[in-house]
Amino acid sequence: MFNKKIDTQADIHELIASRWSGRAYDANRLLSREQIVALLEAARWAPSCYGDQPWRFIIFDKATAEDDWGKALDCLAEGNRQWAQDAPLLLLACADSVLSKTGDNNRWGQYDTGAASENLCLQAAAMGLMTHQMGGFDAKKCTQDFTIPEQFTPMAMITVGYQLPEDAITGDVRDREYGQRARNPLADNFFEAKWAQPFKT
Ligand SMILES: Cc1cc2nc3c(=O)[nH]c(=O)nc-3n(C[C@H](O)[C@H](O)[C@H](O)COP(=O)(O)O)c2cc1C
Repeated sequence: MFNKKIDTQADIHELIASRWSGRAYDANRLLSREQIVALLEAARWAPSCYGDQPWRFIIFDKATAEDDWGKALDCLAEGNRQWAQDAPLLLLACADSVLSKTGDNNRWGQYDTGAASENLCLQAAAMGLMTHQMGGFDAKKCTQDFTIPEQFTPMAMITVGYQLPEDAITGDVRDREYGQRARNPLADNFFEAKWAQPFKT
């Protein structure tokens, strides 16, 4: 995928800078099983509270199970489905609400599942693949269609695939694809020593 310029007050690792959430997928380039295994390994090695590994990912691979992939696509909000239909791989990230070792409430399950998802997205970026996490999907439908136990919360769906060559990116998607990436200033979200006291650079 092509690089987008970001402003940072200090150099950050190229891998982190290079990940962004694109939408122009190349529907003709499927992923190999080896590539998918590498993505899952990256997620697997995420840290988690008590080492409990509360994430569960359901993988929908168009190359090997197109019907199931289609069912996952059907769970997406219309605005997401329009572009996600070109992504050959969909994943559903779910978080366990129960600590497996004690049976207690796991209030870190969603935090850890996000960490595993970001690991996966960064691994994808390192492999030249594009990812896009989505909250815009019907979690209830996923729970029903994929018989997800009640203690697991569907958190996000993730698209993975190759980006289209730049000259093939057209229409609305082109405008969004070339939009500038933006973040709040550091001081808005990062505090020094007490709440709302801006971190000084
Ligand atoms: C949990 C989560 C849910 C998201 N939901 C959607 C979504 O439903 N549709 C969408 O187009 N983008 C979605 N995004 C992508 C964000 O809009 C995107 O990450 C953000 O604008 C920052 O852009 P960047 O990832 O390119 O840095 C989601 C991202 C996350 C992490």
